[in-house]
Amino acid sequence: MDIFAKCYKFTDAKKAQMMGVYPYFKPISTAQTSEVIINGERKIVCCSNNYLGLTIHPRVKEASIKAIKKYGTSCTGSRFLSGSLDIHDEVEKKFAKFIGKESATLFTTGHHVNQGVISALVGRGDVVITDKLDHASILDGCRLSYGEMVRFKHNDMEDLERVLKKYEDKPKLIVVDGVFSMEGDICNLPEIVRLAKFYNSRIMVDDAHSLGVLGRNGRGTAEHFGLELDVDLIMVTASKSLASIGGFIAGREEVVHYIKHFARSLIFTASLPPAQVAAISVSLDIIEEEPERRERLWEITNRMLQGFKDLGFNTRYSQTPIIPIVIGGGLQKVFAVCRSLFDEGVFASPVLPPAVPEGEELIRTSYMAIHTDEQLEFVLDKFAKVGRQFDIIPGGTYKGKRIKLKSLKRSYPRRMVSKFVLGTKKWMKEIFGNRFTKK
Ligand SMILES: Cc1ncc(COP(=O)(O)O)c(C=O)c1O
Repeated sequence: MDIFAKCYKFTDAKKAQMMGVYPYFKPISTAQTSEVIINGERKIVCCSNNYLGLTIHPRVKEASIKAIKKYGTSCTGSRFLSGSLDIHDEVEKKFAKFIGKESATLFTTGHHVNQGVISALVGRGDVVITDKLDHASILDGCRLSYGEMVRFKHNDMEDLERVLKKYEDKPKLIVVDGVFSMEGDICNLPEIVRLAKFYNSRIMVDDAHSLGVLGRNGRGTAEHFGLELDVDLIMVTASKSLASIGGFIAGREEVVHYIKHFARSLIFTASLPPAQVAAISVSLDIIEEEPERRERLWEITNRMLQGFKDLGFNTRYSQTPIIPIVIGGGLQKVFAVCRSLFDEGVFASPVLPPAVPEGEELIRTSYMAIHTDEQLEFVLDKFAKVGRQFDIIPGGTYKGKRIKLKSLKRSYPRRMVSKFVLGTKKWMKEIFGNRFTKK
């Protein structure tokens, strides 16, 4: 049996590509802002994590250019050996001070932080306890650890207590997303802290989507709840509000020191390039100096949450700039809805099982402080139109109309099309019923 056999059998994505509903790997040919160009067409972006819009801030760009001029483009080595610059040390100190912890260390991605920290800390005989909807990188960290991994129901504190009680006598680490990346809700940190104290567990919060967003000063979930002293480890990624890439872990000096010597994803990978370090450093300054960005983000969040609810969409538990829109009806339907939105000028991402339960497939929308009112109106308008078209919200007027699915097979060789056409026809019927017809 050929190990590649599974690759040859995997045809779903190719079918979706041929039908023109494939939503992934779309090449953007402009900067990451609220409006981009994709394949020559303008789209309003509703799927970015650039919450404060800092990727295009002149000071951030300038700092990166300056860093390249001074240090070049890469460190070509790990932090551990030849890849540490003075600016790595400086930005770590700056972040630790910002977040209110003794020490911090910088990894090359947020994924590396979760992988490296969890696997370094959770050894044989230890238990790592995670929320069922925690980010995949947390799961990967758990898988790499030698400890036992136990999950509790999403944000369900009774279930967390059940797990804590069961492992009362073991060393424990609870790891939760501060803001859940697909659902946009906030973890119940006050209760997690109470239970952790009672059952003698440590807490690590992944603030990937909270930094710059939650808290009076944008310091994340712990600040939001006034629990800065009660969270042992704060993880953030620099790939969202910090307009860069990379990730930090912050906590007590001894713990961070240990992580620096045992986290394999820190030791065995090259360090963050200078331009990215400089972008992080200036972004931290801007978060402190321009609180109006966060205020605008929250104004937008409230407006969009209300807007979608008023239209009749189900936004699940969202409380933040991440606003999921429940579509349901399976993968094909979500792809088709995404494609229709895209044709209308809105770029948003589908979320499929296992990230969400079967039948509760979503489109994850997210907002930035730099979205204009006109862009937001446009997005709501297009969601309303497409939502009715697919009977996701009431008031559908499109039922039974012939709608052209423009690009079917546009860019695929005849040979490939004929190979998949039978499967594709069946697939199309499942998605569109009789509502969509090809040219
Ligand atoms: C909650 C959460 N944690 C960790 C990560 C990984 O971060 P990075 O993109 O820096 O690898 C992400 C990225 O999407 C995330 O959403």
